[in-house]
Amino acid sequence: MSEASAPGKIILFGEHAVVYGRPAIAVPVWQVSARARVEAAGRRGVIVEAPDIGRRYELDRARQGDPLAAIIRLACTHLERAPAGMVVHVHSTIPVARGLGSGAAVSIATARALGLFFGRELSAEEASALAYEVEKLHHGTPSGVDNTVIAYGQPIFFIKDKPFEPFRTALPFWVAIADTGVPSSTRITVGDVRRAWEADRRRYEELFDRIGQIVLHARDALEQGDIARLGELMNENQTLLEQVGVSSREIERLVEAARNGGALGAKLSGGGRGGNVIALLDEAKRGQIEDVLAKAGAAKVIVSEVTEKRP
Ligand code: PMV
Repeated sequence: MSEASAPGKIILFGEHAVVYGRPAIAVPVWQVSARARVEAAGRRGVIVEAPDIGRRYELDRARQGDPLAAIIRLACTHLERAPAGMVVHVHSTIPVARGLGSGAAVSIATARALGLFFGRELSAEEASALAYEVEKLHHGTPSGVDNTVIAYGQPIFFIKDKPFEPFRTALPFWVAIADTGVPSSTRITVGDVRRAWEADRRRYEELFDRIGQIVLHARDALEQGDIARLGELMNENQTLLEQVGVSSREIERLVEAARNGGALGAKLSGGGRGGNVIALLDEAKRGQIEDVLAKAGAAKVIVSEVTEKRP
């Protein structure tokens, strides 16, 4: 038997613009995770068990486009092993369709568990590349930020199609991750942004440039430990995301509540229109923000420490 896990993630800065070549900053979230277990079974095929979504099925009978089936097949091909004689069990505490990277985390945990099952530890680069193939099936034009931050498990400064740069954060800091309760379909928001960009490239390129500049300033603020500046930059990034057209009433209600409740800055994170809002916190404000956000309608609040390494 073999087991592996992978964390969730949030994008701190730069979502959407990252699809158009601008940088983004993302960090892992260790409070939630996906776990995969692979067991030998005396049968010819592969059984896939995903109790979270109430499913148990034969790999050969998987639905067209099933992401678990896709990662099992891709990983077995990569490992040069036949997908046969095993049960693949997957369980995740990462909320689905909330911009927390649940799809990429499930893929990475599964690929790693399969690697271990066949006696090989996949590198972060291998696991990331395999998960990226699955992301492409679902998102069309993913930037690759999700699979990268989750596979490496550390804060990343990311530019599409470039080797990612790890970077140092001068201090640990805290973020509240507040769920709007509204699912966020990255495929839909990315597609809408693409159409809007096609209709008015000049305006969108300028918005993406401004987001890209914020990301560069945010990297400096993170390296210098300037948390107040980081908060301002989050607010500026949120304003630009509103102009890009991926915010929503629910997002803005939580953003405002967080700011009024003492957060240093707040913005949507991920695809938008729903999903999660992130709020930057002073350590002293950690205790009270959960209440503030819950009262403003958050379906769930996770308070996470952002550090360089796995806690
Ligand atoms: O919703 P998420 O966190 O999977 O975020 C997608 C981030 C986007 O920049 C909107 C898309 C991408 O592929 O980077």
